[in-house]
Amino acid sequence: MAELQRSVHLHPSILSADFSQLGEEIARIPSADAVHVDVMDNHFVPNLTLGLPVVEAIRRATSLPLDIHLMISDADRWAPGYAEAGAESVTFHAEASGAPIRLARELRARGAQAGMALKPATALEPYLDMLTELDMLLLMTVEPGFGGQAFLEVVLPKIRRARQAADDAGVPVAVQVDGGISAQTITAAAEAGADVFVAGSAVYGADDPDAALIALRDQAAAAQGSCG
Ligand code: DX5
Ligand code: ZN
Repeated sequence: MAELQRSVHLHPSILSADFSQLGEEIARIPSADAVHVDVMDNHFVPNLTLGLPVVEAIRRATSLPLDIHLMISDADRWAPGYAEAGAESVTFHAEASGAPIRLARELRARGAQAGMALKPATALEPYLDMLTELDMLLLMTVEPGFGGQAFLEVVLPKIRRARQAADDAGVPVAVQVDGGISAQTITAAAEAGADVFVAGSAVYGADDPDAALIALRDQAAAAQGSCG
């Protein structure tokens, strides 16, 4: 991978923040590239978090970009509303969409970046021809549903294949990883080709969340540089 220098983005997940004071918790991460918001419906995943009214309140509470990760069934029906709420990116799960190309186009038409997520055991290959429809591909590095789980190294080859396929096709799609990202795992994910990193417990579990996210981002950038 010649001289290519990618940018590195660090998106703290507020799933590990104090839900009783989300505005204050987001104010603790001013250096974040975006706020990662995990929407769960207790159907697509066995957990329930928050929905559109809370996202709208978060939108009013911060000027940071919002990175919405929808872990909900029937994404075709519900995802466009999050773009209309002013999220910079909306990511739906491929497993929850009946028409992912149409949905990605609807998100872009509403002014959001279109993201599509794959669970750890979902194959990348059926989706390679639609990378041009996406601004971001999220490769889950844990089974979605909960923070604080261990990083699944089994996903690393899929990260490499995604990055290679995007580079080969000349498609400027970001490769995001989410789940178990920490000082112990971020280097491997960055070396595999990820460039957007979600971290929940590694940021909000630290005494100084902003310092933690900066350190993680620096570590990822150093790993990218060393394999560039
Ligand atoms: C899990 C969520 C993640 C979660 C990550 O399903 O999508 O965004 O917050 O938490 P950590 O970084 O603690 O694994
Ligand atoms: Zn997430």
